[in-house]
Amino acid sequence: MTKSRSTRKTIPDEIKERLSRIRRAMSKASLPAFLITNHMDTFYATGFTGEDSAILVQPRAVHVISDGRFDETINEEIPWATRHMRKGLLAAEVGNVCKKLGLKEVGIQPSGMMLSEYQAIKKAIRPCKPIDAPPIMANLREIKSSAELTVLRKSMRIAQDAMKATLATIRPGQTEIEAAARLEFEMRRRGASGIAFGTICATDGNAAHPHAIPGKRRFKKSCMILFDWGARCGFYCSDLTRVCFIGKIPPRIAEVYRIVLEAQLAAIDAIKPGQRCCDIDAVARGIISKAGFGEQFNHGLGHGLGLDVHEAPSLSWRSDKPLKEGMLVTVEPGIYLPGVGGVRIEDDVLVTARGAKVLTSMSKDLNEALL
Ligand code: GLY
Ligand code: MN
Ligand code: MN
Repeated sequence: MTKSRSTRKTIPDEIKERLSRIRRAMSKASLPAFLITNHMDTFYATGFTGEDSAILVQPRAVHVISDGRFDETINEEIPWATRHMRKGLLAAEVGNVCKKLGLKEVGIQPSGMMLSEYQAIKKAIRPCKPIDAPPIMANLREIKSSAELTVLRKSMRIAQDAMKATLATIRPGQTEIEAAARLEFEMRRRGASGIAFGTICATDGNAAHPHAIPGKRRFKKSCMILFDWGARCGFYCSDLTRVCFIGKIPPRIAEVYRIVLEAQLAAIDAIKPGQRCCDIDAVARGIISKAGFGEQFNHGLGHGLGLDVHEAPSLSWRSDKPLKEGMLVTVEPGIYLPGVGGVRIEDDVLVTARGAKVLTSMSKDLNEALL
């Protein structure tokens, strides 16, 4: 069932700009229409927060394909879009809309979809032909606008303030889960809409897992604790990692800390528009390898950050993509010593014409890491 309605309410400037960039990319790829299904992509393209919905962009129209749960949200957020409210499956309604508009071809982005969704849409839009589009949304989202950076900075501020409040409450005997819960509570009470990803709080040997899961391990009178955390603010993510200590700082961990910090600072220093992601990764990896810990740095240096906590570009040896002004990346080298502990230091860094601007500001001074 299709119900269509258009209004003349105006489109906000930021969204107008994004839509015109999408349309420029469509025209470059010779796409007469472009279907967006990934939730963060539909939000980016239009400002519509609803999920389980699709946006279809044409040169002169924007269609939203959604359902009754989002009637009011559409009225409030995108009254200017032509709406098609489904009663059945999303793919079926996408098919109805393609038919109604007489589309012969539509660009789709398989990388933002589940395989089942891709197959269902492909079938439902027949005889309209799906064209695998270039990564239009990922490419656009790589470059942050000043409006986006305002929200991202807020997300970082909340994460950091929440961590400072949490560190003041850390005591021997608490569990990793309790400390992670405290940190998440402190972010929510400061205005976070949620967490950017499952908070990592890992003590001693558990910190040797880059993606450790907090458990019931208790902080000892003398131990290290690694926190990897981020807030979500209006969908925008922050992502930081710091380590701290109760009692004393073991000399081996202190040595590793200095190497990781040197690698991180050197990589940040090397960030400039035009530098390739793999070359920045190589700066940090070179320092860590020279110190004899190359095998213990078992992940990429960082990743793009925005509406998703992991998005393009990938700041790793796998990507020869050049950095561009306006990209926001994490820089997070680490060294992991199984059974002993691990050190990772992670900041959120903006690529500017003059080089890197580190937007996160929590202390990395090892002396201040002793609680
Ligand atoms: N929190 C996951 C990461 O740092 O990539
Ligand atoms: Mn992280
Ligand atoms: Mn990260």
